[in-house]
Amino acid sequence: MSKPKVLITRNIFPEAIEAIKEVAEIDLWTDEMPPTREVLIEKSKGIDGILCLLTDKIDGEFMDNAGPQLKVISQIAVGYNNIDIGAATKRNIPVGYTPDVLTHATADFAFTLLMSAARLIIPGHTAAHDGSWKTWHPLHFLGQDIYGSKLGIVGMGRIGFEMAKRSTGFDMDILYYDVDRREDLEKELEMAHVSMDELLKDSDFVSIHVDLNPTTTHMFSDKQFKQMKSSSVVINAARGPVIDHMALYRALKNKEIAAAGLDVTEPEPIPDNHPLLSLDNCLIVPHIASATFATRRAMSNLAATNLINGLLGKSLSTCVNPEVDIKKI
Ligand code: DGY
Repeated sequence: MSKPKVLITRNIFPEAIEAIKEVAEIDLWTDEMPPTREVLIEKSKGIDGILCLLTDKIDGEFMDNAGPQLKVISQIAVGYNNIDIGAATKRNIPVGYTPDVLTHATADFAFTLLMSAARLIIPGHTAAHDGSWKTWHPLHFLGQDIYGSKLGIVGMGRIGFEMAKRSTGFDMDILYYDVDRREDLEKELEMAHVSMDELLKDSDFVSIHVDLNPTTTHMFSDKQFKQMKSSSVVINAARGPVIDHMALYRALKNKEIAAAGLDVTEPEPIPDNHPLLSLDNCLIVPHIASATFATRRAMSNLAATNLINGLLGKSLSTCVNPEVDIKKI
C-alpha cells in the first residue's frame, strides 16, 4: 500500500523529518523563503497532510484544492491566525499546533525585551561600537527602573502567566487584563484583574500576550498609548497586528510613552523604510521569542507527532479543534 503524501513547508529538525518519513512520502520545501501562494496551492493537490508555518495561508480554498483526502493540518507554532479554523472544522480536518513547549522560551524572551527596552541596551551597545560613547555622564542613557515597578499583562494565558512569574523576582506588582478572570491563577500568584483602562493608566510596563483575532487587531492604537504613563514601556511578543504601528510611532516620537520592545511586527519583516526603524526607543527583533535549540526541536517533534497521528487516524496530541479530532482507531 502506498504511503500517504505530506507537504512540509520548511526545513525543521531532522529527527522530526525522519519520524514523518516512517509513515509518509514527504515533499519538503527547503527554500529559506516561504512558498508563494501559487506554489503552495500547486503542491497541495492530493496531499493527505501538511506541516505548515505561520507564514503559510491555509484557508478553505487551499483545503478544497488539496482535496477531500486531506486528513490533517499541523502548524509548527502556538499561534494559528494564518489558518481558517472554521473552514478546517467544516471539512472535519483536525488542526494541530504547538502550545506549552514554547511557553518558557517565549516568556524568557518577553522579559528580555522588557529589560533591554527599559535599560537602553541597544542604544548603549551602539554607542560602545560607533564611538559616540565619550565619557561616563550622570545624565546619559537614563532608562526606567524595573525593580518594584508595575507590570500590566494583557492576556493571561500560559505565556502571560509565565511572564508574571518572572516578574516576581523583581518584586513587581502585577496587574492583568483578560476577558476571562483567572481566579485559579490568582491563587498561585498575587495579581489583580483590572480593566484595560486601569491597566494602561497604572502600569510601568505593558506586556502583550493575546492571540490575534478580530477583537485584538489594533487593540493598541492612539487612544491606548495616550492613556499610558509617559515613562511606560510596551512589549509585544504576541502578534504584530495587535499594535497599530503608526500609532506606536506617534506615541514614541512624541514621548507619550518611553519605549517599546517588539518581537513581532506588521507586516513581517518590517519594511526597511518603516518610520519605527528611525527611532532609538523602539527595539525590534525578527520574531525570535521561541528560537532556542531545545524549544524549536520540541516544536518540530510535536508538530511531527500531530501530523503523524492525524495521518494514522489517531487523536492529535495538541489540537485546536478537538470537536473533529475524535479517536478513529
Ligand atoms: C508561535 O508559536 O505562535 C510563535 O509566534 C512562534 O513561535
